[in-house]
Amino acid sequence: MRNSKKSATQSISPLGLAFLLPILLSCALAAPVQVSAQAPAPDSPAIEAKAHALVAKLTLEQKIELLGGVEGMFTHPVAGIDLPRFKMSDGPQGVRTWGPTTAYAGGAALAASWDLELARRVGEGLGKDARARGVHFLLGPGVNISRSPLAGRNFEYFSEDPFLNASLAVSYIEGVQSQGVIATVKHYAVNNQEYNRHNVSSDVDERTLREIYLPAFEAAVTKAHVDAVMNSYNLVNGVHATQSEFLNLKVLKGEWGFQGILMSDWDATYDTVGAANNGLDLEMPSPRFMNAKALLAAVKDGSVKESTLDDKVLRLFRTVLRYGFLDHPQFDPADSTYSVADRAIALDGARESLTLLKNDGPLLPLDPAKVKTIAVIGPNAWPAVTGGGGSSEAQAFEPVSTVTGIANLVGPHVHVLYSRGLPELNDVFRNTHWEGGVKVATFPSRDFTGSPETTAAPNLADFRQERRGPRDETPRSIRYTASYKAPKGGKYLILAAASGNDEFKVLVDGNQLQAPPHAEGQVPPFWTLDLNAGQTVNVVADYLPHSPGVRFGLGITYESDLISADAKQFAADADVVVVAVGFNPPTEGEGHDRTFTLPWGQDALIEAVAQANPHTIVTLTGGGGMDTRRWLSKVPVLLHTYYPGQEGGTAIAEVLFGKHNPEGKLPVSFDRNWDENPSAAWYYPINGADTALHVTETDGRKVDYVIPHVKYEDGLLVGYRYWTTTGKHPLYPFGFGLSYTTFSFSKLQVPATATSGSTVSVSFDVTNTGSVAGAEVAQLYVSDPSAKTTRPKRELKGFEKVRLAPGETRHVTLDLDARAFSYWDSTAHKWTIDPGKFVIRVGDSSENTPLHADLTLN
Ligand code: BGC
Repeated sequence: MRNSKKSATQSISPLGLAFLLPILLSCALAAPVQVSAQAPAPDSPAIEAKAHALVAKLTLEQKIELLGGVEGMFTHPVAGIDLPRFKMSDGPQGVRTWGPTTAYAGGAALAASWDLELARRVGEGLGKDARARGVHFLLGPGVNISRSPLAGRNFEYFSEDPFLNASLAVSYIEGVQSQGVIATVKHYAVNNQEYNRHNVSSDVDERTLREIYLPAFEAAVTKAHVDAVMNSYNLVNGVHATQSEFLNLKVLKGEWGFQGILMSDWDATYDTVGAANNGLDLEMPSPRFMNAKALLAAVKDGSVKESTLDDKVLRLFRTVLRYGFLDHPQFDPADSTYSVADRAIALDGARESLTLLKNDGPLLPLDPAKVKTIAVIGPNAWPAVTGGGGSSEAQAFEPVSTVTGIANLVGPHVHVLYSRGLPELNDVFRNTHWEGGVKVATFPSRDFTGSPETTAAPNLADFRQERRGPRDETPRSIRYTASYKAPKGGKYLILAAASGNDEFKVLVDGNQLQAPPHAEGQVPPFWTLDLNAGQTVNVVADYLPHSPGVRFGLGITYESDLISADAKQFAADADVVVVAVGFNPPTEGEGHDRTFTLPWGQDALIEAVAQANPHTIVTLTGGGGMDTRRWLSKVPVLLHTYYPGQEGGTAIAEVLFGKHNPEGKLPVSFDRNWDENPSAAWYYPINGADTALHVTETDGRKVDYVIPHVKYEDGLLVGYRYWTTTGKHPLYPFGFGLSYTTFSFSKLQVPATATSGSTVSVSFDVTNTGSVAGAEVAQLYVSDPSAKTTRPKRELKGFEKVRLAPGETRHVTLDLDARAFSYWDSTAHKWTIDPGKFVIRVGDSSENTPLHADLTLN
């Protein structure tokens, strides 16, 4: 919506530059070059004058009203100055808050496309969808780094790499804002896990912050000129983001020159004066802290200045004036709520993201003429799993499942057999045969004390029950006691589930079952038991409901019995089988982390299908890597689908049958097991490092919160930076993905020398050496072996997606600006280039870079 202010260097005339060049050069030789960012330009004098005039009409109370949201998703209106409320909607995958919508490929999927033009089109589609619903603010994109595969919202974010995230964020935001809708980049900052998200402090050194965790936000502000930013829930280096002077005042509004609105995440504000004085402009969804009672007192006692509040209100006015929100209704009659054009964008998103990781044989592409019967099996085969869980969960009008997409493509002459393959959770609970039933003891307390009322039940399957009737606040805790006799020897699963925040623990023969160390937030939890035939175990479950009603389930099942007979039969009868497994909204979503292990029963399902049919294709749904160790060697094909959005099924069918050549490239390193992920040792809070946070609640209560500290000791070595620096290898590297054709890279041209701080052009050829059309992502990695500091061995600094006909060659030129060679100097607190040798590598993944050349910056 706005032009950028020219940087100092850009506004120097060529003559001036000629005069200055020797001086700049001599500086460069003597000292490292420092690189600066561009800030958005200030608003026009007309907007500035109008904004000030509006502020002048407000009382202090009215100004304060504007600092807190209303009705969940609106800014506060002011009747006296005809200021309407402004409407928001969640993103990032679709305009989700106001009914069914277009559900585009999720963030990780979009990143797997490596296609900036697509990201822009998705942004434009979202912008139009938003306008059609009268929405002024879209709450997206989410650009946090995928540091660990466990983080519950990776699927919403983009990738493990700051350059890729920044590039995608810029295109997406420009797309949204080009439609007259404000994009809101989130969650600022270092929100890289979901567990305990309100209380965890992400403790990160400044260099790691600047090089890994902030660049996408920086680019959103300085390049895309995003007009809203959302602070995250967590603390950063001991301070909640919503009151971080460093993040909000020094960096965002200071160095980057952000001129839009900084809003809190929903209930992420924790202190009135702290938030008001440290940059927060808008408390969402309601003013628990930035309200009249608290702020009038703060202004009166001088702890918050009225001019500080004026600045917040001015930002709101400037922003809405910039978009013309006071001149016209946001709903545009030219827009469609159901947009066929947007469906096409959603389909392209799914097509471009699907990433083929294994294709032995090659089994793919399938020949439609040879496939007479195809079995589509698994919990993710139907209905469509378009996105993960939580605030991004967009309800699509007509999502296309994998089985529907395949059936549509193969037509009436091919038999399509569908089986879920696994039971529903509640069926496991219901079908567990407890010896003599279950004893239910309901205690009149919250700690299993007092004299219980006892009843009996045949099973423990209350999980799906609706909470009905009047709210019953009687304190209760419930103990279930039962015994289970194993009908045969082997591996059993114990599954348990409770609703919401209800708590429970399970004891088997007196031993409490512990969640495995990296099973944070596993939904539902499951444990494996090896039992002998006829062995009886005693099971006790202590359940503590936090809200009315009982919603708890527990069951035991022989693992192999989970697999339905029809799934095994269909697998044996079919020419080829697609097993659609992975995560879904309950198992991967906001507010909890997910497991690295696939949800219960899925490993066994894949094994059973692969045993019945060697032509087994596994499709994965999820925000990143997951554990494939039990079955990967037994299946010829692995296709990662992330969360492909509403058109996923169509795109999957097209890729399987060769109507679309797969072109996705991993946006994360795909680990073998969770423990080898570079963040594994540092992902959970350090024992004994908790601190206390003294908070005065809005009702005046003084509360001490425990703040666990996550130490980001993995530092810069996130994802492929770790793998390429240590010389070790993940299962599949960042940037990797197979195609039905082959490509070659040649003719790398890199200048032997260049001036530090100048833009360096690198060019090379990419050729489609196979026999079908396809797309390749050329990736450029920079190394800095002569740096005065330690740097990761490879850093992505350029990429381009090229679509090539068989035999076609494209000459690609990538420009590397000063930042491409810089690191953050923690002593000088500046971006810095150490003149000397750099290595430029080009290839098709972080590990396969057939082209390389040296460059000396002087
Ligand atoms: C999420 C945000 C979201 C907001 C509004 C929060 O729980 O963290 O990403 O925009 O809710 O729904």
